[in-house]
Amino acid sequence: MTQGIFITFEGIDGSGKSTQARLLAERLQFSGRKVVLTREPGGSEGAEEIRQLLLTGDPNRWSAETELLLFNAARRDHLEKTIRPALAEGAVVISDRFADSTRVYQGATRGDLRGAVEQLHSIMIGQEPDLTFIIDMDPQIALERGLARSSGEDRFEDFGLGFQETLRHGFLTLAKAHPSRCLVVDGNRAVEAVAAEVAAQFEARQ
Ligand code: ADP
Ligand code: TYD
Repeated sequence: MTQGIFITFEGIDGSGKSTQARLLAERLQFSGRKVVLTREPGGSEGAEEIRQLLLTGDPNRWSAETELLLFNAARRDHLEKTIRPALAEGAVVISDRFADSTRVYQGATRGDLRGAVEQLHSIMIGQEPDLTFIIDMDPQIALERGLARSSGEDRFEDFGLGFQETLRHGFLTLAKAHPSRCLVVDGNRAVEAVAAEVAAQFEARQ
């Protein structure tokens, strides 16, 4: 049986993950691959409901610990209902965010929860991507891009620029810790230039 490929896009808010995930999905679909484009938090019916709890409302609505549990509940549902079935059918699954976002946002921003994050991940999720693109860019530019969308899901953007700088550092540290699956891509370029690099790096790994 063919086993699929699991690809994730990670990075700070507004760095271009959704745009790049969509462009890679379109490219692979065009070349005849079966592709499932999905996102976190969300990607399944139950997880999309949890998304609303997480991304709307007061920035201090949840503690980091409560958030960690909600993100894992959403991810477990996403894994059961969407990711694993698609991989089992041989699809390329492209997820806009996954567990690395929890490692960075919940693990190392408001106190040190890294131990709890890894324990919960290994007990409840236990799946790593085959390839992770970390779109790196200046938080000031990314924040302007992100807030310009005014999606109403801005709870994390509302923590401000200093928070985004901590996140950027967190993603770059994570990339160094997992060099075999993480690729840092400079997101501060035209959409097409970033997409060309993403496509080339994907092909180079096939
Ligand atoms: P993310 O998913 O990381 O939050 P998006 O892909 O939604 O980022 O992009 C955020 C905003 O920036 C969108 O309005 C998008 O059209 C725009 N954008 C994305 N990539 C670029 C780029 N390379 N240059 C300029 N604007 C971009
Ligand atoms: P999203 O729409 O992906 O954000 P953006 O397009 O701005 O990058 O919203 C997800 C938000 O939730 C984002 O601010 C990051 C945060 N998040 C976590 O804190 N932990 C997680 O595990 C995930 C998946 C997301």
